[in-house]
Amino acid sequence: MTAKTIAALLKTEAKSQDIEIKGWVRTFRANRFIALNDGSTLQNIQCVVDFETMDESLLKRITTGAALHIKGQLIESQGKGQSVEVQVTDIKVLGDSDPETYPIQPKKHSFEFLRENAHLRTRTNTFSAVMRLRSTLSFAIHKYFNENGFYYMHTPIITGSDAEGAGEMFRVSNLDAKNPPLNEDGSVNYKEDFFGKETNLTVSGQLEAETYAMSLGKVYTFGPTFRAENSNTSRHLAEFWMIEPEVAFMDLAGNMDLAEDFMKYVLKYTLDTNREDLEFLEQRLKDEEKTKPQAERSEMSLIEKINFVVDNNFKRVSYTEAIEILRDSKPNKKKQFKYLIDQWGADLQSEHERFLVEKHFKCPVILFDYPANIKAFYMRLNEDGKTVRAMDILFPGIGEMVGGSQREERLDVLKEKMKALDIDEKELWWYLDLRKYGTAVHSGFGLGFERLVMFTTGMGNIRDVIPYPRTPQNAEF
Ligand code: 4AD
Repeated sequence: MTAKTIAALLKTEAKSQDIEIKGWVRTFRANRFIALNDGSTLQNIQCVVDFETMDESLLKRITTGAALHIKGQLIESQGKGQSVEVQVTDIKVLGDSDPETYPIQPKKHSFEFLRENAHLRTRTNTFSAVMRLRSTLSFAIHKYFNENGFYYMHTPIITGSDAEGAGEMFRVSNLDAKNPPLNEDGSVNYKEDFFGKETNLTVSGQLEAETYAMSLGKVYTFGPTFRAENSNTSRHLAEFWMIEPEVAFMDLAGNMDLAEDFMKYVLKYTLDTNREDLEFLEQRLKDEEKTKPQAERSEMSLIEKINFVVDNNFKRVSYTEAIEILRDSKPNKKKQFKYLIDQWGADLQSEHERFLVEKHFKCPVILFDYPANIKAFYMRLNEDGKTVRAMDILFPGIGEMVGGSQREERLDVLKEKMKALDIDEKELWWYLDLRKYGTAVHSGFGLGFERLVMFTTGMGNIRDVIPYPRTPQNAEF
């Protein structure tokens, strides 16, 4: 007999058949009822022990956190809340758990405490639900692209180019940090480094993805991305996962359509497959919101919010229109914004993005045609000579979820832009080659995976939607 998962057993009709399960004890009540969980579902299966026939020393070892192998019969449940339960005939303790020191007690723990115990936090309902949803979202992403004719491309993690030009990169080197080889002018001689040049962990796979879009047509990357920015916020990680599609012969409007269609698809898929986890997280959020002042509470429940995104068009607004809305807004006039909007060209801060999405439009917003000087070098310059075909997608409660653009496909314009920003043509010779040999309109975007997981699960801190978060001063586990 093969052991079935608890998820499968809970869907099985009980006919007193012999079954076997393996899992971890959540609780053991009255020396009789074991709530066992194996991670396959949010639900525990109730295993009923006849303590009169069980060895007492064995019963003592059934503690929260212990791993058990249980044999028994699947019967219709006598109790409330579950349809089936297991009448235990045999228990083997596979791994004991010391109830005095086991960190995950059957009570409410703070998320801070659970972050310190991230190796065990997926034994709680909240984190197991979040991580199952994270897995489903990943699968839905691959499924969407696969069904829509995209090739999955693995862009390099170690790179010699700085895609975003932001200079917030982690250096990769095997030089002796205490005694690096030096040039005559005292600077470090990276020619002697492992790769014979300065290399870093990638901030984006975009530039390499563009090379494949310009031969395979439609590609996407989905991989780890690194930023050495010292942002200690609830929305930033030093290591996060990014999804980056890149498509030849597609303009900015097509890019917006793709992003919207893609996000709706993955959210819908998740609603259809992980209902139980979502309902649990929805209730968690409702309970959490009860502790907040009325004005800060969300008007919609978690599932309503997801459905709202799936069922409604994203609002498309130009940067110029957004600036007008912000300039005339109450918080701007009353000087409630930390950064007041007084003229065109201002970079939008998260307070502005949140106002637009949460107070003004009350739906996801695609902002496009940003001023060229606040965006990356590779974005397509518009005919006005001052804006670029950029788009950011802003989500309620999250802020920026997606950043993308139509790419500059004209060699002369791109070279000029690089020159103005002091980007060495020699570093990006291969990127310029794409514009020399068969250049074409092309576009793409990057979606921060953890921000999507935050939106879907209603978790308020990005550290709680990735197994082992990397943030300034923190790389435990
Ligand atoms: O806007 P970004 O920087 O865009 C790019 O990297 C482009 N090369 C993407 C492309 O066009 N292919 O980042 C894209 C998204 C952001 O919208 C945000 O969701 C997420 O990545 N992101 C982060 N997520 C977590 N922690 C951070 N430090 C993040 N920085 C960006």
